[in-house]
Amino acid sequence: MRVLVTGGAGYIGSHAALRLLLDGHDVVTIDNLSRGHAQAEATLETLGGDRYTPIRCDLHETERLSELLTSEQIEVIMHFAAFAEVGESVDHPLRYHHNNIAGTVSVLRAMHEARTPRIVFSSSCSTYGEPAADQIPINEDTPQSPINPYGASKLQCERMLADLAEAKRRANEPFAYAALRYFNVAGCDRQTRVGEDHRPESHLIPICLQAALGQRPKMSIFGTDYPTPDGTCIRDYVHVEDLADAHVRVMGVLEPGDERRYNVGIGKGFSVRECIESAKRVTGVDFPVEEAERRPGDPPELYADVSKIERELGWKASITDIDETVESAWKWFKTYPHGWPES
Ligand code: UFG
Repeated sequence: MRVLVTGGAGYIGSHAALRLLLDGHDVVTIDNLSRGHAQAEATLETLGGDRYTPIRCDLHETERLSELLTSEQIEVIMHFAAFAEVGESVDHPLRYHHNNIAGTVSVLRAMHEARTPRIVFSSSCSTYGEPAADQIPINEDTPQSPINPYGASKLQCERMLADLAEAKRRANEPFAYAALRYFNVAGCDRQTRVGEDHRPESHLIPICLQAALGQRPKMSIFGTDYPTPDGTCIRDYVHVEDLADAHVRVMGVLEPGDERRYNVGIGKGFSVRECIESAKRVTGVDFPVEEAERRPGDPPELYADVSKIERELGWKASITDIDETVESAWKWFKTYPHGWPES
């Protein structure tokens, strides 16, 4: 298929583009490099040859996007481009409304103009907010009630997709979408072709690895008094390659009229302490860890009920061992201790 990947120079977008190229698809990526890395595009170019086209384009350039969709004969969009830092979204909500919501409006308008029939949207488990203990594991019918602007922005995009699907149905125009609600995406391409480089970094596993590399004097556990077995927060860490696989699978089944919503996780959680222990085992470094205050907005426990995606798409995480996930990220961090080299 001919696929447009938005945010193709970013962490998840580059892994998905890599997977699509390896599967023989034609891929166009757009990125404005506000968070992505040109070096990721250069790597994809080397691997994809003339099946790969990187384009410098902002989500808000609706007309250019629409022309691109038409000229490149795009059959499906994978829309990754977004800001995804919960804390930043609380401090700078308009940044999130502008980039994530208005940016998605622009993509959908371009799609409408160009009559592109399918889109796979990167949603998030943060749309569920802080579910009650009896609603864990979280399934797709768990009420969506986000507790921060990031989660709210993703939920708003899901609603826009549903509204557009309804309008298209009434107009008898083909349109299909899937919203994949990611849990905590982690790990890197196991062959270290692309990887994870957030600046600044806020995610647990990369922070542990930076501590192991000596780039941080210590790392902090944000809260040790949660109502969990070891007092630290529990999350569902899904490997980025498995996540890319979920995108490819759902892309392959989207039929006109489809509205598909799936949780993408491994179906079990690991605590912060368990992740730290894993990072120490994998790296062989006993890096310093301090116990710190809770980070505002962190729900105690989030993990997915993944039975729907397994039942409907036959997708199941192939990597469920936290050490394996951490190992793949460690390979990347050892190879590129300072992230993607600047081009
Ligand atoms: N944590 C620490 N110390 C750190 C960093 C994180 O203790 O230095 C803890 C957090 O408090 C949390 C857990 O590790 O309990 C995971 O934190 P991350 O920042 O790695 O991930 P989040 O769960 O906060 O958020 C991530 C993505 C979001 C996405 C969300 C879905 O950043 O984009 O997963 O759960 F929406």
